[in-house]
Amino acid sequence: MTWEAVRLEWDGDVATLTVDRPDALNALNVETLEAMNEALAAAANDGARALVLTGAGESFIAGADIKYMQSLSPEEGQEWGELGHSVADALEAFPAPTVAAVNGYAFGGGCEMALACDLRVGAESALIGNTEIDLGIIPGWGATQRLPRLVGDETARRMIFLGERLDAETAEREGLFGEVVPDDELDARVAELAGQLAAKPAFAVRAAKQSINQHHEGPLAAGLAYEKRAFASLFGSHDQREGMAAFIEDREADFE
Ligand code: CAA
Repeated sequence: MTWEAVRLEWDGDVATLTVDRPDALNALNVETLEAMNEALAAAANDGARALVLTGAGESFIAGADIKYMQSLSPEEGQEWGELGHSVADALEAFPAPTVAAVNGYAFGGGCEMALACDLRVGAESALIGNTEIDLGIIPGWGATQRLPRLVGDETARRMIFLGERLDAETAEREGLFGEVVPDDELDARVAELAGQLAAKPAFAVRAAKQSINQHHEGPLAAGLAYEKRAFASLFGSHDQREGMAAFIEDREADFE
């Protein structure tokens, strides 16, 4: 199977899913999200014992595609939120451990894809954050629920309310990155880690992963459903239209 903006490559039992839209810093549009879902299903079907998620070029994933989102209605925002959630859910439920190799910008939906992975390794130059607030919306693909669980409530609120972009050192200190390595060592370190994970007993690792995921289940599902509704409701608002137009027109936003 091949896709326009997604690559799935194998090194033994380790699958690497690379988002490959470097002209848009790997921002995620509908086609790319659908391709990610197909690639994740293919990797699971073909027996991946570990999966790496990364981005081509200088960026991990610079978020959801703002040019696509700009004119969505609340109903379309709902569908858009559902699609992004389906990819994050597929990462979270992937039947083997997943590692986000964060090689550059991981903003908005990019941060959310990293949050849905089991582990995150950051390159020294990586920047990560849920920056949606500056577009007049909120994180729509899981961060309001997954970020506080990872970094704690206070830090998550600061990051989301202020749209903070954390450097790699800060992200490691806050528990967002498990480790940080020099840029030119990221691929090798992630390959080593993924290889170690793939060498462990697969059924036991899967059971451990499912058990750890379980403790999120009840409240997380309700929280994610709530987030989907809240995300969709912001499309069509003045601040959403203005925030995204300002990004595209490369000017300061004039919020209500
Ligand atoms: N959507 C669409 N296009 C994007 C994009 C995005 N999220 N991020 C970058 N691009 C595009 C730019 O528009 C630009 O395209 P053109 O060359 O056609 O103009 C190209 O990628 C390169 O970007 P820049 O020129 O802006 O590169 P830079 O190095 O000056 O800045 C950046 C890089 C700081 C990442 C900046 O691009 C940026 O701030 N991007 C937006 C990040 C963001 O806010 N992401 C969150 C999106 S909202 C979201 O994800 C919602 C959700 O929860 C589902």
